[in-house]
Amino acid sequence: MAYIKTLSLFVFVLVVAFLASKSEARKRNTTHIQFYMHDVLGGSNPSAVRVAGQSMNSTGSAMFGFGSIYVMDNSLTATPDANSTLIGRAQGLYAMSSQENELSLLMTLTYNFVSGIYNGSSLSIVGRNPVMNEVREMPVVGGTGVFRLARGFALAKTHSMDQVDAIIGYNVTIIPYF
Ligand SMILES: *[C@@H]1O[C@H](CO)[C@@H](O)[C@H](O)[C@H]1NC(C)=O
Ligand SMILES: *[C@@H]1O[C@H](CO)[C@@H](O)[C@H](O)[C@H]1NC(C)=O
Ligand SMILES: *[C@@H]1O[C@H](CO)[C@@H](O)[C@H](O)[C@H]1NC(C)=O
Ligand SMILES: *[C@@H]1O[C@H](CO)[C@@H](O)[C@H](O)[C@H]1NC(C)=O
Ligand SMILES: *[C@@H]1O[C@H](CO)[C@@H](O)[C@H](O)[C@H]1NC(C)=O
Repeated sequence: MAYIKTLSLFVFVLVVAFLASKSEARKRNTTHIQFYMHDVLGGSNPSAVRVAGQSMNSTGSAMFGFGSIYVMDNSLTATPDANSTLIGRAQGLYAMSSQENELSLLMTLTYNFVSGIYNGSSLSIVGRNPVMNEVREMPVVGGTGVFRLARGFALAKTHSMDQVDAIIGYNVTIIPYF
């Protein structure tokens, strides 16, 4: 009996040590990525275009274009300067998904990285983006390459607006899978 007790205690200690080392390694390898997204709707070379829904010039809830869908291929750069190092591209869709008097988007997109140690890897984001809030949080639901099976979250903050164009700062925290 004493033997069984000792053995189960030993197994318990082993499992705790294993879990602790795993969470320690996770903490060590948690990655923070910072970049700026350029959402260009105006001008002759927009990077986000409306593909369905109503235009933004009506009144009431339609003022915020409820039901509209945009496709984007926005550049991601190292600093707010559009000509700074290209980190990657945000490719995907956003839909104006609130009937209230607020601008709230459903974001479904990938950040595809094209430089540095993340070159060739991508992250997938699905989440609600109430763009009038100062900071918006969106879940990272997975990734490819070095981010395969990753989890995490993205914090977005509008850096500047120029009429319909916006520069959005992103801080993304990634917890690796292992
Ligand atoms: C943690 O990251 C380092 C470098 O950043 C890498 O060498 C190491 O293999 C990673 N550990 C795991 C378990 O992925
Ligand atoms: C305003 O909306 C109407 C109907 O949706 C459209 O025909 C018109 O071109 C829009 N005007 C501008 C300036 O976008
Ligand atoms: C980026 O560079 C292009 C051409 O080199 C220039 O026309 C543009 O004004 C620059 N943009 C910014 C924000 O500096
Ligand atoms: C990123 O990877 C692609 C394909 O492997 C390669 O052609 C390109 O030169 C790399 N870019 C940078 C900036 O390392
Ligand atoms: C990202 O982090 C920097 C500091 O590292 C901070 O100044 C900035 O406000 C953060 N942005 C967001 C969107 O959380």
